[in-house]
Amino acid sequence: MKKIVIERKGSLKGEVTIPGDKSISHRAVIIGSLAKGKTRIKGLSKGEDNLRTINAFKLMGIKIKKTDNGELTVHGRGLHGLTEPENVINAGNSGTTMRLLTGLLSGQEFFSVINGDRYLRKRPMKRVISPLSKMGANIWGREDGKFAPLCINGTRLNPIEYESPIASAQVKSAILFAGLYVDGVTKVSEPWLSRDHTERMLKRFGATLERKGNSVSLCGGSELEPRDIEIPGDISSAAFFIVAALIVPDSEVLLRNVGANPSRNGVLEILRKMGGDIQILNEDEAGGEPVIDILVKSSCLKGVTIGGALIPKTIDEFPILSVAASVAKGETVIKDALELRVKETDRIKAMASELRKFGVDVEEFDDGMIISGNNHLEGCECQSFGDHRVAMSLIVAGLRASGRTVVKDTSCIDTSFPGFKDKLFSIVH
Ligand code: S3P
Repeated sequence: MKKIVIERKGSLKGEVTIPGDKSISHRAVIIGSLAKGKTRIKGLSKGEDNLRTINAFKLMGIKIKKTDNGELTVHGRGLHGLTEPENVINAGNSGTTMRLLTGLLSGQEFFSVINGDRYLRKRPMKRVISPLSKMGANIWGREDGKFAPLCINGTRLNPIEYESPIASAQVKSAILFAGLYVDGVTKVSEPWLSRDHTERMLKRFGATLERKGNSVSLCGGSELEPRDIEIPGDISSAAFFIVAALIVPDSEVLLRNVGANPSRNGVLEILRKMGGDIQILNEDEAGGEPVIDILVKSSCLKGVTIGGALIPKTIDEFPILSVAASVAKGETVIKDALELRVKETDRIKAMASELRKFGVDVEEFDDGMIISGNNHLEGCECQSFGDHRVAMSLIVAGLRASGRTVVKDTSCIDTSFPGFKDKLFSIVH
């Protein structure tokens, strides 16, 4: 149980390059493995979750090599080039690996088993198994398919039109990856748009795919062509630096190479609404995704209400947004966010309990919380519940808190952001 102590307090000044986006990195490895030929990937996330996806494809016969300049080359073998994994695929803590691969494995001509760590084995899998079963997939899991480990007996699948009850990119992507193996059109609709990295990348690799509003249709059966991909920085990782710079007085930080996909950039919209001084510089493009630099200066924040379509656009940023809300003037209301209860941990419960230790008044309800901002955070001893984003959020809170803060159970940070602590502390002066 690695703990991090935050004592040295000063303003944040300097420039930070944000490492590669976790979600896009998963998709680059998956789609590169399914294309026929060599896909070179620059800037892949080095997080453990992404290593899980790489190892899964190595286990299914795909050659994946690191080049001298740090790039990754994936030697894709075409849509039907995967081979039966002779061992259990270990998704570790990665929900994206497990859910996306469950879709993909459903349409293979072989048997596979996928498992995860003790946190992932508690997360709901019916959300992917239900639609995939409607396509004809054979999937078994604990408690009638609720939980991993999952066993998948690959088979021929049928097209479906699926209306997802939740806005989830993992559900949507699992169905789309299964849809690659279907003769005909697979259509997925969702109540609000979730991140669209799968759609963008499949299109880039030559898939026939069309989006209308919150629906996407994919025409299955045709081979994908390899492409070189540059992965933009992860806006979910950038969010910790943005909030740190906003809430620690006298700070000014320039963040380079941040992905700004409109289905992911809710955090910028919300923090600006809270009064954050956030300037967008150098708008560019990488790997079919918009990329920006962001200049952030300390600001007096005010409480806001967040709900509806903003929730999926911001889904991974609520732990750190709740830290920003803790020092904002007035109340911040987060609603329509039931999904936060089934992330790496229950993020509503976790942030409510840990922020209270800093002296913050938090009211928890089913699908959200009300945080009453307090200019003063009291240093304390708190814990991550094994959730990387909770751990990083509490470290940022510790930078603003008086006295000493100890965050326990921080090794989970490596699932998405190895080197986070050193990068953050390198700009504390
Ligand atoms: C992800 C989708 C989101 C997000 C997760 C990554 C993805 O999950 O929370 O961290 O890469 O598709 P849901 O699809 O469950 O909302």
